[in-house]
Amino acid sequence: MSPLKSIIKIAPSILAADFTRLGEQVLQAEQSGADRVHVDVMDGHFVPNLALSAVIVESLRKVTPLPLEIHMMVTNPDLFLEEFCEAGSDSFLVHWEGNANLHRTLQRIKALAKGAGVAINPATPAVVLEEILPDVDQVLVMTVNPGFGHQLFLRSTLSKIRRVRKMIEEIKPTCNLEVDGGIDAETAPLAIAAGANVLVAGTSIFGEGQGVAAAMKRLRIAADPTVSR
Ligand code: DX5
Ligand code: ZN
Repeated sequence: MSPLKSIIKIAPSILAADFTRLGEQVLQAEQSGADRVHVDVMDGHFVPNLALSAVIVESLRKVTPLPLEIHMMVTNPDLFLEEFCEAGSDSFLVHWEGNANLHRTLQRIKALAKGAGVAINPATPAVVLEEILPDVDQVLVMTVNPGFGHQLFLRSTLSKIRRVRKMIEEIKPTCNLEVDGGIDAETAPLAIAAGANVLVAGTSIFGEGQGVAAAMKRLRIAADPTVSR
């Protein structure tokens, strides 16, 4: 049976995966229609947690042809771009916060021929994206504070998602609008109604007792009720 597909993209976040069988779980997500794989990188400075590195990307590259998007929750992403590219990354999401040379970072990513996206935290207003939008393929609106999986979706971010969608339509309609944090079958429809078209989901895909395939199907149908059951 072919996996369910729609214009809404799903990016399972491996932060919530069982690392003793990471390859198997990513394969299940791929077979269930995942559109890309979301890899969270944390340095213990930008966020109060440590997670993942280029070694994981190198391993993932061997088991899946899906695009690997790297969410850089690190103080200086420029230091690691080449290493992650060599490991097989396809795109990068870098944070607006704390990056005094964001435009330069994005140009570096483009020079490496990779997809470039900007992420903003819950306390960061949409307006900071205005000048940089023409230079990115994707915006990531954090719907939790970055650093940890399994947190509650912040409904206060919905109005910002709507503002970002409006800005994208006006400035760069091809730009994707991704949301990350607390996305499940209940919150996904809210984020989509506000304008998101890419969903990052960790706990609701890999943390569900029902298994990856059933969790993917549940999220896909919640995200787009027009896909056939
Ligand atoms: C949080 C990460 C997320 C995280 C999402 O800082 O950026 O990608 O894995 O996990 P859930 O879906 O469990 O909120
Ligand atoms: Zn993330």
